[in-house]
Amino acid sequence: MLRMGDIVKNIILIGFMGCGKSSVGSKLARALHMQFQDTDQLLEESFGCKISEFFEKEGEAEFRNRETALLKQLNEELQNTVLATGGGLPLREENAELLKKLGTVIYLKASKETTLKRLHGDTTRPLLAGGDVEEKVERLLEQRIPLYTAAADLIITTDEKSFYEIINEIEKQCRN
Ligand code: S3P
Repeated sequence: MLRMGDIVKNIILIGFMGCGKSSVGSKLARALHMQFQDTDQLLEESFGCKISEFFEKEGEAEFRNRETALLKQLNEELQNTVLATGGGLPLREENAELLKKLGTVIYLKASKETTLKRLHGDTTRPLLAGGDVEEKVERLLEQRIPLYTAAADLIITTDEKSFYEIINEIEKQCRN
């Protein structure tokens, strides 16, 4: 069997909040005998608090600076790893370039309907807190889809697909 670790250095999962980067990523890593890391988790460890608290205390701009700093650090050390990224991370051009250097970038694309279903009742995402969530998701998706698309080497649509199907498709696509 061809393992993805044989073909690419790292696999980077990008996409909107709730598209399944962390859940797909950890399962994909297990299937391919790779390590798994998650930028949100790494940042929370370095902040010593939840992302929502960091946004409250330091603001979004500082959070974005910390994402870029983390990516620079990962560029020095990441190997044989599936990396799940925060939904806003690939939007900075500098970050998109750093991601490309790190490995194969896969955009897990989900429709607005799937996204809303998955984020229903979520209280952990500061960008969606308060107000009309549907309107926010719609506006952010409109801004971000072109940027995710430009940052990606591969696009996998995830609507109505099981983890197994998504992982299979990633393996198949990476072999082509
Ligand atoms: C964000 C997405 C979050 C987290 C932060 C900002 C965004 O990560 O990084 O709340 O700008 O889309 P997930 O995509 O894992 O929810």
